[in-house]
Amino acid sequence: MSQVVPFLDLKAQYHSIKTEIDDAVLGVLASSVYVLGTEVAKFEEEFAEFHGAQHGVAVNTGTSALHVALIAAGVGPGDEVITVSMTFIATAASVSYTGATPVFVDVDPITFTMDPSKIEAKITSRTKVILPVHLYGQAADMKQIMAIAERHGLVVIEDAAQAHGAEYQGKRVGGIGHMATFSFYPGKNLGAYGEGGIVTTNNPGYARHMKLLRDWGQEKKYHHDMIAYNYRMDAIQGAILRVKLRYLKAWTDLRRTHALKYEASLSKHGIRRANELTGRYHVYHIYSVFHPARQQLQAALQAEGIHTGMHYPIPVHLQKPYQFLGYSEGDFPVTEQAAKEQLSLPMFAELTQEQVSRVAAVVNSWVERTNVA
Ligand SMILES: Cc1ncc(COP(=O)(O)O)c(C=O)c1O
Repeated sequence: MSQVVPFLDLKAQYHSIKTEIDDAVLGVLASSVYVLGTEVAKFEEEFAEFHGAQHGVAVNTGTSALHVALIAAGVGPGDEVITVSMTFIATAASVSYTGATPVFVDVDPITFTMDPSKIEAKITSRTKVILPVHLYGQAADMKQIMAIAERHGLVVIEDAAQAHGAEYQGKRVGGIGHMATFSFYPGKNLGAYGEGGIVTTNNPGYARHMKLLRDWGQEKKYHHDMIAYNYRMDAIQGAILRVKLRYLKAWTDLRRTHALKYEASLSKHGIRRANELTGRYHVYHIYSVFHPARQQLQAALQAEGIHTGMHYPIPVHLQKPYQFLGYSEGDFPVTEQAAKEQLSLPMFAELTQEQVSRVAAVVNSWVERTNVA
């Protein structure tokens, strides 16, 4: 059996920064402040600054980040939120938590992010928020989306769970929309050693509201201003994320180097890729290829010890819990075709150039054989 190429290798990254991480964790253990505290507060500041935003509100997951951002935007029962079906279910589920309805639009066939030309037809008197997803690590078309939101008086929340450090027209995501949410699930470009999330914003009113929402509605202990949540970030995660944030740029550069190498090799044989558009800075959380015989391609790679993923095989509008909304196959052709054809190749900073070359060579030779057959 050939050498295994994992889809993701979290151990390699830990070993590369072990001393700093261990010191940070031991520091928290010794401090006896285990929830929120100065490590989390400093992380909020540093992460927000990195993304060009004035405020950061750290929470326990990316899903909670979406939930508190939606509530801060005033979303509640009976409201509508325009989003995409081509995403992880958390995007839609967080809308459902508020009692509002997710209203889906299709994505564009180049970036697989929200197609702005589809938004206005879906705006009603109940629409409160537009919630684009920076899928795979590439920003959605924020200029168009912000212009539409402004025309209709809507709030824009960026779901940047997969897009730490991504840029749109020279500006990092996180400070473009009214709020942006990130996930620190371990496999993300900036991953905690457990769960974590954050909302960034330039609006102090939203930031204050979300700080109340994540911590039982209290600014002063046992004085509760509202029925809220326990969505606090652990201090250990804050301390770990502070260390890892310092490496994010270097790790992103490595991901981009791998993506360039994939691109240079795969373009010769023409398999479809989710390409970086001019004016965007893709951080390649996921490196996607597309082929109608995706299952066979995945099997061919697996036979060579190369692990892959699918993001995502069933679009949200066709998932069981959203059947009640009445969507059907054919409603979002770009999303549905991508769900059938997308395959995620190994992508993480510590991949070697040899591993990238081998993955690309196996894909290319499979494409060649398939084209001939
Ligand atoms: C696009 C998107 N939104 C939201 C989430 C939810 O983040 P978390 O898993 O941290 O709750 C994820 C994570 O997988 C995601 O990929």
